[in-house]
Amino acid sequence: MQNENMIPLFKVFVSKDIDKPLLETIHSGWIGEGPRVQEFEAVLKKYFGNDNLVTLNSGTSGLHLAYHMALHQNDYKGYYNSNVDEIITTPITCTATNTPILCNGAKIIWADVDPVTGSISPEDIENKITKNTKAVTMVHWGGNPCDIDKINEIAHKAGIMTIEDGAHSMGMEYKGKKFGNHSDFSVNSLQAIKHVTSVDGGLLWMKSEKDYQRAKLLKWYGIDRTIREGIDLRCEIDVPEAGYKFHMNDVCALIGNVNFKHLPELLKKHRDNAKFYDKAFKNCSNVLPVLENPNGKSAYWLYTIHVDNRDELMQKLKSLNIMSSKVHARNDTHSMFSEFKSELPGVEAFNRTHLCIPVGWWVSENQREYIAEQVIKYAK
Ligand SMILES: Cc1ncc(COP(=O)(O)O)c(C=O)c1O
Repeated sequence: MQNENMIPLFKVFVSKDIDKPLLETIHSGWIGEGPRVQEFEAVLKKYFGNDNLVTLNSGTSGLHLAYHMALHQNDYKGYYNSNVDEIITTPITCTATNTPILCNGAKIIWADVDPVTGSISPEDIENKITKNTKAVTMVHWGGNPCDIDKINEIAHKAGIMTIEDGAHSMGMEYKGKKFGNHSDFSVNSLQAIKHVTSVDGGLLWMKSEKDYQRAKLLKWYGIDRTIREGIDLRCEIDVPEAGYKFHMNDVCALIGNVNFKHLPELLKKHRDNAKFYDKAFKNCSNVLPVLENPNGKSAYWLYTIHVDNRDELMQKLKSLNIMSSKVHARNDTHSMFSEFKSELPGVEAFNRTHLCIPVGWWVSENQREYIAEQVIKYAK
């Protein structure tokens, strides 16, 4: 049973304007990928300033496609170069960042993270590049940008592709440019509890036109969906490369598009609450808040603090009707990843003390004051 007085850590946002267009779409006679997907993609391309976008059925599908393309840069006939190709990645994330690496038949090489921000360490990436490295993945924890330029510089010097997992990062900016414009592949999630939800969905942004054209095919079995006069695309078009069924449908696109209009106001609330906490914890020696990368603007999907008594504080906050959580624990301890184990002191330190407290659009001014007071009172 849900406690109605509990201040949640996550909340689903659905626009009040959804009912009419949603009913119209469901009864329109076209609920697969069609006009609503095209409209949503046009809105997103304009807002983010990058035309190389495909909408997908999840962020995980976006990551799977990015790994597929980075591992097989020209084409793929169905044989993985198993256990040879390497992807450098972080364990401080959702397992969805890393399971598609195994599903793509590649090896995981863990890089360490900054013990406070949880961002992957550019120096450790550099240490771990080998002749078998095909890509490096950075995760913007809570929507706070990693050192994107440095990572791109290191990777590109070594001829390696870069992937940004921005599942937490809707609305994030780095050096004045919006997410989706910095690396070879960038992925957003539109899953239920993200800033903008399409119920489930994902966005894959690409730097190159060539990857974009390829992703358009791979998201639907490898088949070119462009409608051409007199050609039955299912029966008459050659399929050069095996693809997936990862496309977004019109119902999800409609929901995503209506919700997306609210992004500026939602982001503002997340950011205002975060700035309030930054001030509140400034002089509190028992609480170390994760501050925004000065080169960017965090989307603040999460507000993260470090406290020595993390597990105890989490229980105490729960008893005070404040939900808090680690959200994601280090991935490298799962048995599916056991063969890739390595020493990661930054990961160890981050994972021992990190805690996320409610910061989203639903947290009122009174609630954030109450949360900050209780954290300061019980943090050790
Ligand atoms: C860091 C991270 N990456 C990837 C994903 C997967 O996104 P999706 O649920 O849209 O597949 C999530 C999910 O929340 C996530 O938190």
